[in-house]
Amino acid sequence: MEGYILEWLNLIGRMTHLIVGIAWIGASFYFIWLDNHLEQPAEEVARQRGVGGELWAVHGGGFYNAQKYTNGVPKIPERLHWFKWEAYTTLITGVFLLALMYWYQAEIYTIDPSVMALSKPVAILIGVFTLLGGWLGYDLLCRSSLGERENLMAGVLIVALTVIAWALCQVFSGRGAFMHYGAMLGTIMVANVFFVIMPGQRAMVASCTAGEQPDPIHGKRAKQRSVHNTYFTLPVLFVMISNHYAMTWSHEYNWLILIAMSIAGALVRVHFVQAHFGKPSPIPASVAAVLLGGVIFAIMPRPQTQLDTTATVTLERAHAIVVSRCAACHASEPSHTGFSAAPKGIVFDTAEQTLAQANVIHQQAVLTRAMPIGNLTGMLDEERAALDQWFRASRVDP
Ligand code: HEC
Repeated sequence: MEGYILEWLNLIGRMTHLIVGIAWIGASFYFIWLDNHLEQPAEEVARQRGVGGELWAVHGGGFYNAQKYTNGVPKIPERLHWFKWEAYTTLITGVFLLALMYWYQAEIYTIDPSVMALSKPVAILIGVFTLLGGWLGYDLLCRSSLGERENLMAGVLIVALTVIAWALCQVFSGRGAFMHYGAMLGTIMVANVFFVIMPGQRAMVASCTAGEQPDPIHGKRAKQRSVHNTYFTLPVLFVMISNHYAMTWSHEYNWLILIAMSIAGALVRVHFVQAHFGKPSPIPASVAAVLLGGVIFAIMPRPQTQLDTTATVTLERAHAIVVSRCAACHASEPSHTGFSAAPKGIVFDTAEQTLAQANVIHQQAVLTRAMPIGNLTGMLDEERAALDQWFRASRVDP
């Protein structure tokens, strides 16, 4: 029953997280696009009203004319729309999911004894500290004199993130490390909205209400944080889907893969932002492509051992291994606590099912060693080697 309830909490939490996340990042991408496409207002009267840039668009059966008041407005309109709950609810649902999967079920998703035999409370503490410490450290950096020097700041951020990615991969399972790294970046993005961007906007509204020119410092600070948020977006999205791709987080150099994919993601965003202005430099997209190509090549599976054609591993033997190490979870009625149904619907009740899924078994138990998850059933290296032998022999001699 507990497993069943966890599944529903997971499904509802994930759906909500996706929906609010789309609303947040969608609006954020839209406003960056809007800002970067503004043109001088066509009419003199608009300019006199304080409009610094405008844009015409057609969408969903109507024409839209967006105008940006660069130096505040003479009078705050009665209804002013704010964009903040999209960000806050993304963090709330994200922390809910993180707590549900990676903290409450830390022994399945976060702790990998072959990396470090953490106790559950210690794993949770490290997780919480990663989110809080990440934000505090980042905020200090932005407020320091470094914050003024964009390129240096980018360099320092990359180095700091590399150290964090490396450190997390030394204590957590690959997928646990990836998820905490992504959650930390996501927390920073939302905290940027809550602690810097929103207060700045409130101060701006307050000065306009008082009939004063808004202090440009608020705009400058908010700009710095929203630029960072833009470049964090794609790395965060990569992490959020990476748990489906064991080849990335289960690799020996998973932290390097994480950083390479993060930099590539940030550069793709750089490319699009430049493209808004019409003339993107080819460098960011090329470096991103080289990084991606490098990762694809570097983690390509390479057979470690020579295939021993004399030793045969029968289907019976392979199925016996799979039953003893996998079927606690992957059975039509799982016996492992916490699972009410076979994860991802993958079931190994019969030898036929094992044979039919030879490819995914090989992928998960031999190539990436992502399964058994957290090696909870204590699969031995000999057993992985036997599955490898069985799988490869079956490919050679169908
Ligand atoms: C302790 C429970 C447990 C054991 C034992 C276990 N798995 Fe899994 N397996 C899971 C969970 C949980 C998932 C879903 C992971 C996720 O959410 O991405 C999963 C997912 C999978 C997937 C789907 C991967 C994907 O992303 O599509 C395959 C294939 C798989 N397991 C194969 C195996 C094999 C082969 C073994 C034995 C060597 C095994 N599992 C042992 C819990 C287990």
